Amino acid sequence: MSFKKQDILGALEKISAPGEGKNLVESNAVTNIVVFDNEVIIDVTIANPTLQAKKKTEVEVMKIIHDQVGQKIDVKVNVKSEVVEAGSKRIAQDKSIPGINNIIAIASGKGGVGKSTITANIAVSLTKMGFKVGVLDADVYGPSMPIMFGVEKERPLSVKIDGKSKMKPIENYGVKMLSLGFFTDPNQAVIWRGAMASKALNQMIFDAHWGELDFLLVDLPPGTGDIHLSMVQAVPITGAVIVSTPQNIALADAKRGVAMFKQENINVPVLGIVENMSYFTPKELPENKYYIFGKDGAKHLASDLGTNLLGEIPLIQSIRESGDVGHPVALQDGSEIEKAFNEVAKNMLSELVKRNKNLPPTEIVRITTMSGCSTK
Ligand SMILES: Nc1ncnc2c1ncn2[C@@H]1O[C@H](COP(=O)(O)OP(=O)(O)O)[C@@H](O)[C@H]1O
Ligand SMILES: [Mg+2]
Repeated sequence: MSFKKQDILGALEKISAPGEGKNLVESNAVTNIVVFDNEVIIDVTIANPTLQAKKKTEVEVMKIIHDQVGQKIDVKVNVKSEVVEAGSKRIAQDKSIPGINNIIAIASGKGGVGKSTITANIAVSLTKMGFKVGVLDADVYGPSMPIMFGVEKERPLSVKIDGKSKMKPIENYGVKMLSLGFFTDPNQAVIWRGAMASKALNQMIFDAHWGELDFLLVDLPPGTGDIHLSMVQAVPITGAVIVSTPQNIALADAKRGVAMFKQENINVPVLGIVENMSYFTPKELPENKYYIFGKDGAKHLASDLGTNLLGEIPLIQSIRESGDVGHPVALQDGSEIEKAFNEVAKNMLSELVKRNKNLPPTEIVRITTMSGCSTK
C-alpha cells in the first residue's frame, strides 16, 4: 500500500492537543514525519513529561494512523517532552555540567519546616514517574539527605571518566545523591564547615559523575546566606521551590526567600511554594484535619507574591517516621501521602514546562567582590 505524509498529517489532525483546544498538528506538537515504503516515523513533542502521558500519545498516534490510513503501516512514534528538551538547550549554553537538564533549588526561609523531607519525597515521586533524578544536599547546618535515604554509612567512591577521577554519587531508590554531610564533620563549628562548604559544593557539582539527569534537586540551607550565593554563582538554577509551613513567622521568612531569588542580579524564576504541615491528621481519625499552624497561609502568600501554591502536605506521623528510617514516604504506592507528593511533583513540572517555554535560561550570577576581584 502507499500513503503520503499528507495522509499522516490528516490523521494526526484528529487528535486533540491537551488543554489548548487545538489538534496535535495545529499546536506544533508534531515536529517531524518521515515516510518510506510502508514505514512512518513520527516525532511528537508534548508538554506533559510523565511517562503515562508519553505512552498515551504514542498509543493515540498509532491507533489513528492504523484506523485512518492503513492497518498494516509500520508506525514508529518518538514522544519527547518539553521539560527535558528546553532543559538540554539551557545546558548547551553552559557546557560546564553536561547531562544535567534542570537544576531546581529547594529553599525555605526558616529551618525545620520540612525542606529536606519535601526534597527527598519529590525526588522519589519524580523517579517513579520515570525521570532521572539527583539530589544535592547543600545544607551545611544540617545535611540530612544521607539519613533520609538510608545511606549515612556510605561514602562516595571515585570513578575514572575520560582519564579524570570523578566522585560517584550514592544511589538509593533510583535517586542519585551527594551530600555535604559526606565531607563535613558534624561536630565541627558551623563556621569551619561553612568555609569548606563552598569548595565541597563545587566538587559535588563539577567533579562528580552524575551522568544524564532530568533533574538535580538542591536542598539548600534555610535562610538566604553564603551557600545560596555560592550556588547561584556556581550553576544556572532553572527554578526555585520554596517550602513553608502555614504560620506567619515561617511565611515572613519564605517571603524573604522568594525575594532573594527574584532579585534582579540573581534572577532565578520561582516555580512556587509548597506548604508543609498544612494540617494534622491523626492515624486513627484519617478524616479529621486540624489546622494547628493556621489555614491557607501559603496559598495567600503565593497569590500575594504572584507565584503558585504547588501543593499542601499534611503533618502526619508516617512522614517523620519514614524520614528517620531512610525510606521516604512517597515510596508507599497507592497511599494518600504518595498522591499528595505526586501532586506537588506534577505541579512543579507543569510550572517548569511553562518556565522553560517562556523564559530564557538562567544565567550564572557574576558578583564582583568589594576588592574588585570577580568571585567567579
Ligand atoms: N509533613 C510532615 N509530617 C510529619 N513530620 C514532618 C513533616 N515534614 C517534616 N517532618 C519532620 O520534621 C523534621 C524537620 O524536617 P526537615 O525536612 O528535616 O526540615 P528542614 O530540612 O526544613 O530543616 C523532621 O524530623 C521531619 O521528619
Ligand atoms: Mg534540612
